[in-house]
Amino acid sequence: MSIITDLTRDWLTRSLRPFTFTPSYDEVLPYGDCDNLGLYIHIPFCRSICSFCPYCKTVYRKETCDRYIDALLEEIRNVGNTYQGRKKVTSLYFGGGTPALAHARLKEIIDEVNRHFIITDGIGLELHPDDVREPVLKELKEAGVTRISIGIQSFHDKYQDILGRRTVDIKAMKEALEAVPFETVSMDLIFALPSQTLYELEEDVETAFGHGANHVAVYPFIDFTFTDSKLKAMSKQEKHALLDGITNYCLAKGYQRTSIWTFAKEKNAVYSSMTRESFLGFGCSAATLLRDQFKINTFSVDEYCKRIAEGKLPTSLTIRFTRRQRMVYWLFWTLYSTHLDPQDFQRFFGVSLDQMYGAEFILAQLLGFLKKEQGIYHMTLRGAFYYHYYENYYTLAYIDKMWGIMRLEAFPERIEL
Ligand SMILES: C[S@@+](CC[C@H](N)C(=O)[O-])C[C@H]1O[C@@H](n2cnc3c(N)ncnc32)[C@H](O)[C@@H]1O
Ligand code: SF4
Repeated sequence: MSIITDLTRDWLTRSLRPFTFTPSYDEVLPYGDCDNLGLYIHIPFCRSICSFCPYCKTVYRKETCDRYIDALLEEIRNVGNTYQGRKKVTSLYFGGGTPALAHARLKEIIDEVNRHFIITDGIGLELHPDDVREPVLKELKEAGVTRISIGIQSFHDKYQDILGRRTVDIKAMKEALEAVPFETVSMDLIFALPSQTLYELEEDVETAFGHGANHVAVYPFIDFTFTDSKLKAMSKQEKHALLDGITNYCLAKGYQRTSIWTFAKEKNAVYSSMTRESFLGFGCSAATLLRDQFKINTFSVDEYCKRIAEGKLPTSLTIRFTRRQRMVYWLFWTLYSTHLDPQDFQRFFGVSLDQMYGAEFILAQLLGFLKKEQGIYHMTLRGAFYYHYYENYYTLAYIDKMWGIMRLEAFPERIEL
């Protein structure tokens, strides 16, 4: 499995050097010179734990959650205070876990962020369907949240059963969303579940759009090795047919593809915590991507709080990128949006894309993965499938390995990918 990712890494970075993560880290993060900076805050609490889920999370207890949020406020303050004035950032996303469980303290967190940053494009937050009720939505909106994402997974009971989740109360959800509207209401759906058909997936998309969503994320099921899930992943051919099928269906219905896995029913509906050139992450397991480094915070809630109490950053591991490694990272995540403007590459790296990866982009066009129109690269249906397919390898070879270690060790010695 990792041979594919290793060979691609060696080829594109023009080096045999692995991605090496070590515990040494910067106490002062150099984010001042980053344009298009995004913010991410992780809230690692859920009412109950789903067996298939790889994210950093633990069962909600009010006392632990309060202690965690006190530490989180301190981390935001410590990082924010290293910059003179308020730094302009694009957006703030709350992910988890289930950040809506912290609704009562959300305003406090957003107020602290606003003391140090100017958010230009809005605030997004993830909810479990059980939290989509009028009083909670009102509280989120009053705190400044403009976009929400709801973890539906499937509207079909048989798939909810397979995933160990409860039936979604679509009536209660729709009423709450009508009473308290948001700019973007995104719903997460999982596809490639055992024996799932294209028709069922199309029904899920329509049910989402018919019950308050103006954006959907259609994620392929990923079988992480460290989770307790007993579900078997679908074969490559079946997955390919489902991904192409649902993409063609959405495009034929006039929905706009906003990234590899997301579709919008309305023009301005966007929800993406991933496609950022650089971002600062706060909280357990949160990652930070800057000009030449990527760092990831400890996954342990207790160790996180301890580090903050010692006046230190909760960084567990950092990788210092070579220039080519940073370029590969940039290209991978920019292409997630299915479009790439070579001028953005030139602006970020000060060198032309042609000079660094001209041959690879010609090859990608010859293979039918990309099309160039008016100077911009667009991913084809074929390209999107292979990107998705490669992303699966990347997730299993890199993220699975890294998170598998980090959930057991708060501060690992070293990880090589
Ligand atoms: C943090 S959860 C969303 C909010 C809330 N915790 C919930 O579950 O409703 C993020 C999303 O990741 C997706 N996800 C989780 N585990 C996955 C897996 N093994 N494969 C694919 N997608 C997964 C689900 O669609 C889930 O809604
Ligand atoms: S899918 Fe959502 S609710 Fe389930 S464990 Fe993961 S973060 Fe928690």
